[in-house]
Amino acid sequence: MNRSVYTLGIETSCDETAVAILRGETTLLANIVYSQAKLHVKYGGVVPEIASRNHLRKLPYLVKEGLEHAKIKFSDLSLVAATYGPGLVGPLLVGLSSAKGIAYGSGAAFLGVNHLEGHIFSHQLAHPTVKPPFLALIVSGGHTSLVKVHHYCEYQTIGATRDDAAGEALDKVGKLLGLDYPAGKEIDKLATKGDQAVIRFPRPMAHDTGFDFSFSGLKTAVAYYLRENPTHKVEDVAASFLAAVIDVLVDKTLKAARRHKLTRIVVVGGVAANSLLRKRLTAHGKRFGIKPFFPPLDLCTDNGAMIAATAAFRYIHFDQQHDLALEPAPSLEF
Ligand code: KG4
Ligand code: ZN
Repeated sequence: MNRSVYTLGIETSCDETAVAILRGETTLLANIVYSQAKLHVKYGGVVPEIASRNHLRKLPYLVKEGLEHAKIKFSDLSLVAATYGPGLVGPLLVGLSSAKGIAYGSGAAFLGVNHLEGHIFSHQLAHPTVKPPFLALIVSGGHTSLVKVHHYCEYQTIGATRDDAAGEALDKVGKLLGLDYPAGKEIDKLATKGDQAVIRFPRPMAHDTGFDFSFSGLKTAVAYYLRENPTHKVEDVAASFLAAVIDVLVDKTLKAARRHKLTRIVVVGGVAANSLLRKRLTAHGKRFGIKPFFPPLDLCTDNGAMIAATAAFRYIHFDQQHDLALEPAPSLEF
């Protein structure tokens, strides 16, 4: 019965226009992402107005392409879902309004999805047999949170950033280093060519007993270093800075897993694509019998598949749907 549920998932909370078609809970029939990054690059970050206009421009074609890819028609859809928060209000409004229109026109159910829960569900798509309980580390451009996942749809946030998210710090330091936005992937690459022992940047809140993070001081430390060392080698700065970010993420996450007696960690969000994070968390986790799980790279950064998966789960297990009056919630939390 579940296999006959076809879900269209739409993600437009920031600068990725993304669409996916899912059959049942985990069979992906289409997953298309259009990144607007090149449209924002000259501004050094996402311009909400430009993002909204381009979601509007691209989304209808991506939906059409998704249906063609999945070889289904609008009338085959059981459920249409879109991210309703957190994110930029204009971009959210485009995806949400489109989803409502398609649901209404095709007679499908409609469901708004929390983007953060969406990231957690990228794990279920990648590793359907690895079920909760587990600890989730959500590390993206907008969020850095440690969430205890008792069951899917039952979450307890045990730590979060007090200022910048890890991805945000990577993007801001990237800008200081003259890299294009978003800089996380490029810093990942540059760091492999540099020496992380050259500069000892601070490990913010590393010795704090709680599980909160703080990355804005680290970004300032890099800014001071660059000003005082104009002949710096970019690769060494990237490697030393990235090592500081990853040390904090790995230490805090393992500490939280041990304190809460969880032996599995699910790492999701754009920064989960980082090669040093993958390597270190896996190696250090082994010492404590803790195993991290990472989705494939295309499911780490924003995508429609994670939105479809969240919605399908809630619809199939809890018969959940939303009224078409649902509004965007830019500051939505768990
Ligand atoms: O999840 P995501 O696509 O969007 C948000 O929900 O924020 O994450 C985007 C973030 C950006 O900050 C980007 O620089 C970072 O993920 N990112 C990476 C890598 N690939 C993307 N950070 C570190 N290493 C990577 N390989
Ligand atoms: Zn995201």
